[in-house]
Amino acid sequence: MHQKSIDYLNTVENLKVLAIESSCDDTSAAVVVGNQVRSNIAASQEIHEKYGGVVPELASREHQRQIVPITRAALVKSGVNIEDFDAIAYTSGPGLLGSLHVGASFAKSLSIAWRLPLVEVHHMHAHILAHFIDDPKNEGGIPELPFLCLTVSGGHTQLVVVRSPLDMEVVGQTIDDAAGEAFDKIAKLMGLPYPGGPLVDQLAAEGDAFRFTFPKPKAEGLNFSFSGLKTAVLYFLRKAVAENSKFIEENKADLAASVQRTIIEILIKQCEAALQQTGVKAIALAGGVSANSGLREAVRQLAERNQVMVHIPSFAYCTDNAAMIGMAAQFRLAAGHTGSLATPPSARLIF
Ligand code: KG4
Ligand code: ZN
Repeated sequence: MHQKSIDYLNTVENLKVLAIESSCDDTSAAVVVGNQVRSNIAASQEIHEKYGGVVPELASREHQRQIVPITRAALVKSGVNIEDFDAIAYTSGPGLLGSLHVGASFAKSLSIAWRLPLVEVHHMHAHILAHFIDDPKNEGGIPELPFLCLTVSGGHTQLVVVRSPLDMEVVGQTIDDAAGEAFDKIAKLMGLPYPGGPLVDQLAAEGDAFRFTFPKPKAEGLNFSFSGLKTAVLYFLRKAVAENSKFIEENKADLAASVQRTIIEILIKQCEAALQQTGVKAIALAGGVSANSGLREAVRQLAERNQVMVHIPSFAYCTDNAAMIGMAAQFRLAAGHTGSLATPPSARLIF
C-alpha cells in the first residue's frame, strides 16, 4: 500500500458503524469497523422486472418492507453488540427521493433510539471509497493517491480525480444517459428484462463484438454521451426486424457483444485522455457497470498501455451496497463531519 493512502487510513479510528443504503432499488445494511467489513447484506428488488425499469413508488415500499430484516441480518452476522456502535451512516443522496427517505428515516430513528451520531454519505463518493475497504477481492488493493476513478452506474457516469477520501473532483461526466442506462435501454430494445446490463454482459461473452458497428457519440472535453448510441441501435433494429422478424433472436449474442464493445470504447477513450491530461498514476473503476467483464478487462489493458496501476472492485462492492457507505462514513467521522436529524435527503445531492 502507498504511504499517502496509509496516512488517510490511519486517521480512521476503527469506529464501529452501522450503514444503510437505499438510494435506488437495492436495500442494504452493513457493519464496517475501520476499513474492515463485518457484514454486508443486500436485497435486490425483483418487483421492477415486469415494468422494465425501476418504479419509484414501488421501490420505496419495497425498501420499507426489507429494511428491518436486512438490518437485523447485518447486525447478527457482524457479531457487534448494539451498545458498541459509534455511529449510524446512511445515503443522503443522490437517488430516488422516496427510497432515500426510507433509509434516512430509519437511520435517524436508530440514532435517536441508540443515542448515536449520524453520518450522511454521498452515494457517488461511497462507490469510489469502496476501494479503501480491506478485501483481497478488491483487485489492485488500496489505491495510491491521487487516482482517477471511472464511476459508472445506472444513474451516473463520472470521471473523478480523487486527491484524498474527502477531496474529489469530477473532471468529466455524461451529458445525457448514464453508461448503465445505455446498457439497460439497449437491452430493453433487444427484448431483455430489466436490468439488462448483466444480461448483455453474459450474452456478449458468446458473441462477435465486431459483427456490428454503431456510432460513438462525441462529447466535449472529458465528458460522455450515450443517447445517440441508443437511438442508432433503435433505428438499426427497427430496419433489421422489418426485414427479418427473427433478427434479434438470431443475432442476440453478436448484438450484445457489439453494443458492449461500443459502450466500453466510449468509456475507455475518455479515461485514456483523462490519464494523459492529469498525469495521475492509477485508475480505478466503480459503480454497477464496473461488474461488466468486458469493461474490467479493457481497464486492465488501458492501465498496462499507460503504465499506471489498476483497481477493480470486488463484485460485492460494484453494485449498490451499504459496506461502501460504511467505509465512506469512516473518513467523514474521522474528519468530524457528523449529520443532523434536521437534514433531509436530497435526490440531486451535489457531488
Ligand atoms: O451502481 P448501481 O448498482 O446502481 C446505481 O446507483 O445506479 O448500478 C446499476 C447499473 C444498472 O444499469 C445495471 O444494468 C448495471 O449497473 N450493471 C451492469 C452489469 N452489472 C450491473 N452493466 C453491464 N454489465 C454488468 N455486468
Ligand atoms: Zn450506485
